[in-house]
Amino acid sequence: MTILVTGGAGFIGSNFVLDWIAAGGEKVVNLDKLTYAGNLANLASLASNPKHAFVRGDIGDRELLAKLFAEHAPRAVVHFAAESHVDRSIHGPAAFVQTNMVGTFELLEATRAYWNTLADDARSRFRFLHVSTDEVYGSLGENDPGFSETTPYAPNSPYSASKAGSDHLVRAYHHTYGFPAVTTNCSNNYGPYQFPEKLIPLMVANALEGRDLPVYGDGRQVRDWLYVSDHCEAIRVALERGRPGETYNVGGNSERRNLEVVHALCDALDKLRPRAGGHRSLIKFVTDRPGHDRRYAIDATKISTELGWTPRETFETGLERTIRWYLDNAAWVAQVKSGEYRNWLDANYGKRSAA
Ligand code: NAD
Ligand code: DAU
Repeated sequence: MTILVTGGAGFIGSNFVLDWIAAGGEKVVNLDKLTYAGNLANLASLASNPKHAFVRGDIGDRELLAKLFAEHAPRAVVHFAAESHVDRSIHGPAAFVQTNMVGTFELLEATRAYWNTLADDARSRFRFLHVSTDEVYGSLGENDPGFSETTPYAPNSPYSASKAGSDHLVRAYHHTYGFPAVTTNCSNNYGPYQFPEKLIPLMVANALEGRDLPVYGDGRQVRDWLYVSDHCEAIRVALERGRPGETYNVGGNSERRNLEVVHALCDALDKLRPRAGGHRSLIKFVTDRPGHDRRYAIDATKISTELGWTPRETFETGLERTIRWYLDNAAWVAQVKSGEYRNWLDANYGKRSAA
């Protein structure tokens, strides 16, 4: 048995693949385009593991997808591949529409064609797990209840709009074709292997170099934080027990203002890597992100009561693990920041791009 994972060289995807194989899951065929966010160094420990087959390619390449389905006959698809950074979507939305919407459409079409060829039993067991975000619901007021699965969609950035578009396609494929899709909408993840453009790894990397810690606007925006391996477990649970056609919100019960997150991180670094004047002195308030969502929060009652999932890490334990990981893996951060990881990828995988 095999599963097809898309975007498995990115932050959450690589954590998922590592956890999946460590937990004794079946073979993974990992399809990833290796954009700036894809990094095979994340999967170095699987380099000679026969349970991991890496294919460099685009989810929008339907011919390649048909070939992969014919060759590997997966029992499920877990779809992470996306452009994922809100700030980049503001500067260049085209790639977001292309990958998140058109790419997901092509993947759905190729998967549906394959699913239609399956015998009854395999067809009824097949699943398409679509990994999405809480940002599709828009922004909450200070005292609003958290997003539930019935909260109306109101995306505010090109990123969240493109993810909302993909969610709607997935929903329509279930409604129209009976396609066995399950969607998860998750809050902000953090943990090992996160590209240092996102808040937590950016702040850790800058703090260690003594650079400014740029807090957008007043820093009072609220996010709900979830340690990445908890998200990976939620995806495994939704894949095995989630009901086709359903969506499940996933969150960490850990709402924090951005400034609180940065303070916690500075204080932890003060203990682990003391610095004259303390790390908080590096904080610099900068111009706000255009259209910046004020608050996200998740009501995860459904996945907890129906599927029995709750997060294992608190924000405090998860943050400590994360900071220690970045301290212990300074070479990974340095390679990403210098761009050296891309040379390594090109040298090792450029010629092996899937055709
Ligand atoms: P990431 O940017 O770290 O990784 C994305 C991966 O997708 C990269 O490896 C990249 O090379 C690959 N990719 C991009 N375009 C591709 C294409 N056209 N074809 C094949 N591969 C392609 O993203 P992430 O933070 O790991 O997020 C993974 C998924 O989870 C995304 O769908 C994102 O929307 C969703 N999500 C992320 C968070 C979060 O906090 N990071 C929270 C909720 C949901
Ligand atoms: O909510 C889930 C989403 O979380 C995912 O769908 C996205 O893929 C993921 O990138 C993340 O989106 P955010 O925009 O919330 O994450 P980011 O790390 O970019 O920013 C977190 C908060 O911190 C946000 O309010 C903006 C702020 N911020 C961010 C950066 C990079 C700063 O104040 N300074 C910064 O330098």
